[in-house]
Amino acid sequence: MTTKVFPGIPESASDARHFTGEVLASMGCANIDAAQMIVSELVTNSVRHSLSARDGWIGVSVTAQAGDHAVIIVADDGPADGKAPAVPAECPPLGESGMGLWIVSRMSEFTVGAPGLCWARLPWTAPVVPDPALAGDLAGDVFAIAGLGATS
Ligand SMILES: Nc1ncnc2c1ncn2[C@@H]1O[C@H](COP(=O)(O)OP(=O)(O)O)[C@@H](O)[C@H]1O
Ligand SMILES: [Mg+2]
Repeated sequence: MTTKVFPGIPESASDARHFTGEVLASMGCANIDAAQMIVSELVTNSVRHSLSARDGWIGVSVTAQAGDHAVIIVADDGPADGKAPAVPAECPPLGESGMGLWIVSRMSEFTVGAPGLCWARLPWTAPVVPDPALAGDLAGDVFAIAGLGATS
């Protein structure tokens, strides 16, 4: 496992993206874009929503079983109310909060383990052909958001 600690400032999202990309590239991972997007959402949340924003720190760990999966772990100083965020079961309405965690949960096996601690497990290789069922769901969500109704 490779770990780096970042300050609770907006620039850390970009720094964590680069860190994650470098670690996974050195291991030969072929799903780096997804990993970077996930870490970007999670570190942004730590900066925006956790106590790490008050001169605190955000820990990012990248670990992997090469050829099988990668795991991104993000730890922060926790929410002010001490309650771990809930991962939405469905796509939230446009403009409401919850889209970030929903996207992460669609791109990975995502777990909020405790307030201030979450991890995402994602496949080693990006799918070449999208899963038709997943693609169908996503298209349905997008069309619903845009108010366009059914796709066929
Ligand atoms: N690291 C975190 N610390 C505290 N609260 C969090 C954290 N991540 C997410 N949350 C809570 O979960 C909500 C949903 O997060 P997210 O889906 O990323 O949407 P958004 O960031 O746009 O509000 C946030 O509004 C916040 O209340
Ligand atoms: Mg967010």
